[in-house]
Amino acid sequence: MNTIQITTPSKNYPVFVGPNAINKLHSVLRNLKPSPKNLLIITDENVGALYLDDVQQAIESSYPYEVIQIQAGDDQKSFENYFACQSFALAKGLDRTSVILALGGGMIGDLAGFVAGTYMRGIRFIQIPTTILAHDSAVGGKTGINHPEGKNMIGVFHQPEAVIYSTEYLSTLPEHEKRSGFAEVIKHALIADQNLYKMLRKNICTIDDLKGEHLLQALIRGIEIKNNIVTEDEKEKGIRAYLNFGHTLGHAIESEVRYKGITHGEAVAHGMLFALSLKKETAHIAIELKKWLNTLGYPPLPKHLSIPSLINRMKKDKKAEKGTIQMVLLDRLEKPYLSSYEAEELEEKLTCFFEEK
Ligand SMILES: NC(=O)c1ccc[n+]([C@@H]2O[C@H](COP(=O)([O-])OP(=O)(O)OC[C@H]3O[C@@H](n4cnc5c(N)ncnc54)[C@H](O)[C@@H]3O)[C@@H](O)[C@H]2O)c1
Repeated sequence: MNTIQITTPSKNYPVFVGPNAINKLHSVLRNLKPSPKNLLIITDENVGALYLDDVQQAIESSYPYEVIQIQAGDDQKSFENYFACQSFALAKGLDRTSVILALGGGMIGDLAGFVAGTYMRGIRFIQIPTTILAHDSAVGGKTGINHPEGKNMIGVFHQPEAVIYSTEYLSTLPEHEKRSGFAEVIKHALIADQNLYKMLRKNICTIDDLKGEHLLQALIRGIEIKNNIVTEDEKEKGIRAYLNFGHTLGHAIESEVRYKGITHGEAVAHGMLFALSLKKETAHIAIELKKWLNTLGYPPLPKHLSIPSLINRMKKDKKAEKGTIQMVLLDRLEKPYLSSYEAEELEEKLTCFFEEK
């Protein structure tokens, strides 16, 4: 079992990561002050079918709990489900001592975290991530929901009490979800750790290689990188924006296809290639990364994407300023920085990028 201590200005908390980390749940709950009156497990139907029993056993019947299962899919990170969870929590008598358990991937973590962050002005929650991607989303305290106008447009910063990352849960992930999460691992490596990037390039030759010690090391390093960044900049006033590498275009693609047919990380993978292609100093990294991603089975860009619509969405990105689009670029490996583009200029570059695909 590995423990990484997350330190942010507003809260410090542990991430327990490794096989059977779920066995830590009971002691985490026992150490909470005040002791929770009751718990609410929020999960989705896929994860619930696989791991709800396990989590219920880990609670060891010491606390009364309720369960709400919502449908799977990023389009479920919606106002309707947020409201349904709040109504359920009120109906079941959750109070300010209650604790929410977010059992699932980033969709559930973001939704349940937002429910916890706003229920009665904020109650405690514990992240129990079940996807590779959630090594990123479960740490750092960003929570929220999507709006039809854009991804993650409504939310709060709300840090969990603990993250319990039981890596045996990852074995049931479908391949495309492994690819999705691995894109965020690659992102962490590109912006902050070229040794990790080299290790991954050498050892992850197929998606099946994402297991065992290599996967565990990649997750731990990814969490450490995220920790280093959020320690310095919890509320994204500065360097935290670097974590959005690949996300300006990635989010626009996801919103454009209404969160269907391409996963978050697969969209981010295209976003990273685009960002790397924007500078001649990193164009060669884009070329080799593209080859590697192809070997790993990352899908091509969705068909029939409208470039003007994507640019419009990028203009609405939360990082956009005074009509310009903010992109995270790399000077070289480990050296991210922010660069502003006029919409027309970026549209031209995006057109070239699409033509080369
Ligand atoms: N808060 C943050 O800092 C942050 C960072 C990155 C991404 N995100 C958000 O995370 C979300 C994406 O997260 P995700 O990729 O984990 O998606 P997800 O939570 O939608 O999970 C992907 C799919 O895998 C299924 N699944 C989950 N765990 C499983 C398991 N162990 N076995 C089998 N199936 C399983 C789910 O039911 C779902 O169908 C996006 O909404 C994105 O915006 C948030």
